[in-house]
Amino acid sequence: MGPQEIKPGIYWVGVVDWNLRNFHGYSQTYQGTTYNAYLVLDEKITLFDTVAWKYREEFMCQIAQVVEPEKIDQIVVHHVEPDHAGSLPYVVERTRPQAIYASRMGDKFIRGRFTSQDWPLEVVENGQQISLGKRSAQFAETRMLHWPDSMVSFIPEEKLLISQDAFGQNIASSERFDDWISWPELKKEMAHYFANIILPYSARVPKALKAIQSLGWDIQMIAPDHGLILQNHVADAVAAYQEFAAQKPEKKAVVFYDTMWQSTEKIAEALASGLTAQGISVKLYHLKNWHHSDVMAQVWNAAAVVAGSPTHNNNVMPLVADMLTYMQGLRPKNKLGLAFGSYGWSGESPGIISRWLEQIGAEQPLNPFGVQHVPGHDTYRELVRTAEALARHIEDKVRQAGTG
Ligand code: FEO
Repeated sequence: MGPQEIKPGIYWVGVVDWNLRNFHGYSQTYQGTTYNAYLVLDEKITLFDTVAWKYREEFMCQIAQVVEPEKIDQIVVHHVEPDHAGSLPYVVERTRPQAIYASRMGDKFIRGRFTSQDWPLEVVENGQQISLGKRSAQFAETRMLHWPDSMVSFIPEEKLLISQDAFGQNIASSERFDDWISWPELKKEMAHYFANIILPYSARVPKALKAIQSLGWDIQMIAPDHGLILQNHVADAVAAYQEFAAQKPEKKAVVFYDTMWQSTEKIAEALASGLTAQGISVKLYHLKNWHHSDVMAQVWNAAAVVAGSPTHNNNVMPLVADMLTYMQGLRPKNKLGLAFGSYGWSGESPGIISRWLEQIGAEQPLNPFGVQHVPGHDTYRELVRTAEALARHIEDKVRQAGTG
């Protein structure tokens, strides 16, 4: 994809990574991604972000189609993660800019990650403005969204927010804007991204949005560092971020499990069926068939997490431990939990899962459900009663949260 003018004199000069499936080593992307960077032609030619190292030469070609790279005067580094700053040493070497702007933490990270002694680094503070010539760029720190160095830029003359990872989505496409995709599909990708990258810092999202509001920015276009540029769905995206961050529980349960000889699977299916019969929306995941990031993409607004494993060597199955470890790090809020599992003789797994759910902060109004050998008719009846009880707790939780 060649460069694209997104505003008069402002160009997308990123690259499209069509075939990426493993995003950042822990999240799955089914539609690849893009590494977006933006070039503003003004009295000071300014580059906002770079791309992953492996695309450095393609990136330079992108820039060269707009302006000779050596003419770049200044670079803004919003975030030092390698997918955006990986090419920075290459770009600095080629362009020798007069200034490289970053947040205070960004400055530290640049100095820590790169051999940058002779780079013209300049720290910018929250609310600070720099001149590009006819235009200006104002900065807001978005600390921990999702790294300590994160910041965003606003170009008021164009009402353009360059939002770094915020509002990003993993969508590789020949289109640059959000006018070819339905809002539900775009929101789904945005939610997947949020749930796997930004969720632990949810509490900071409304504060960051409020801080941006207090700077009086009139945002009409959001250009993130991944995926599509938002011009039709700016207000929708801001509302969606408020919604994702609030993690209000809905009448929804996420059931995940692994299984050896299908007893735990039968329990999972019986619980899912019992919850469905009570009007609860259920997402069921056999972890051998699903990536942990896909499960998390459904957890953020679920009222209940129902997790199961057979007892294997006095422990849980590895994929269940993986899922619970991953979930624990992402710190979802407002969850009910229920642990279950089958066993042959020792039966530790439901208790182990229950302790994990406790560490995640999930309330567990019902006892862990262990089944020895194979579930029979009596067990199925008990599972139906358990599902009915859990459904009542879900209803209560949703009512209390005001989402029912
Ligand atoms: Fe897209 Fe946090 O890097």
